[in-house]
Order: sequence, then C-alpha cells, then structure tokens
Amino acid sequence: MTLPVAVLVSGRGSNLQAILDACASGVLDARVAIVVSNHAGVPALQRAALAGVPSAVFTLRTYADRAAAHSAMAVAIAGLGAELVVLAGFDHILAPIFFVRLAGVPVINLHPALLPLFGGRGMHGDKVHEAVLASGATESGCTVHRVHPETVDLGEVVVQRRVPIEPGDTAATLAARVLEQEHGAIVDAIRRFVPAEVSRYS
Ligand code: GRF
Repeated sequence: MTLPVAVLVSGRGSNLQAILDACASGVLDARVAIVVSNHAGVPALQRAALAGVPSAVFTLRTYADRAAAHSAMAVAIAGLGAELVVLAGFDHILAPIFFVRLAGVPVINLHPALLPLFGGRGMHGDKVHEAVLASGATESGCTVHRVHPETVDLGEVVVQRRVPIEPGDTAATLAARVLEQEHGAIVDAIRRFVPAEVSRYS
C-alpha cells in the first residue's frame, strides 16, 4: 500500500528531494501528500511545486503562538490522511498539541550525527559537525529517529548511517559527507513504515 507522507521542511530541502525522487522512481512505495514549511519562500517549497506536490506555510507570525501554528499544521496534515510525518530539516520543536491532533501518526526526524551523541537543544547545522570534530571522534553519520512530545533527539532510532572523519575535515566537508548518507537514510527509514503488502494468494 502506498504510504501517504507529510514532509516538514524549513530551508534547502535536499532530503525532501531525495524523498520525492524515491517516490517518483518507485524505489519507495510512498507519496508526499503535503510539504509543510514554517518559513515562506524557502527552496524546499519550490521543490514541492516542481514535483506537483501541495504545500502549505505556517509561520509563527500568522498565529497567536507556536501551539496555535503547530495545531493548524497538524489539522492540515491529518485532513490529507498522512500516515507518517517526516521532519526533514525542520527547525522548530513541535508543540505537544501537534502530537495530540495527529494521535497515532508516527513522527520521525533526521539528525546529522550518530545519536545519542551530539544531539539535543542547540545541536543543529554546523554546530553539530563542529562538536563532532572537536571531540576527536573518528566517525560520524546521521540518525533517523522517532519524535515524541517535549523531547529533542531522544526517540527510538529507526536508521543510522556512518561516515569516516577524514584528516583535514572542516564542518563543511563533514556536513557534505553526512548529507550524502542522509539522502539514503531518510528513504530507508520511510520504507520501514510502509505496510507489508498482503499477498493476493494467501
Ligand atoms: C540536514 O542536515 C538534516 O540532518 C538537518 O537539517 C538538514 C536539512 O537539509 N536536520 P535539507 O534541507 O534536507 O537539504
């Protein structure tokens, strides 16, 4: 059964693109039912438009507070029947009401490090890769994990991919190596939520 997915984004959207491409080529039995952004005019929204996928923007400015914005977001997602929510470069912590409105719909997030290391509030973008390099670690990677209310980067791991740290790495070179793995990891992770097809002959 083709899994209807909502993808939440805030910027570039290269992971969204990997998901759209995997759906289009058939390597992933899913379809992006909606792309939701918390910022207007970001490249990820253009990617959605080019793929012919509906999108919606919920900026904090338009709502009384974060809870109201995230509640409206969840209502839109539920209305389209999404059965999985994917945070692919989404830069806000979801308000608890989001999970209430989408009761029973799993939420996953992509993080550019090997959780439980280098996660938590404030650990995003280059800060993650700088912390990894400063620690003297010999490898890094990415993690797709479940998201639960009021926690940051703590949910069960769905998929992890590892990369080596090379001599002379900077946050930028490490980020690029990790990003390459993210594009496969997020597709693998979504695949885990596609219900197994029941054989016609069983
Ligand atoms: C990725 O590095 C992801 O791990 C992090 O935000 C970045 C999003 O990149 N959460 P993109 O917008 O998918 O290109």
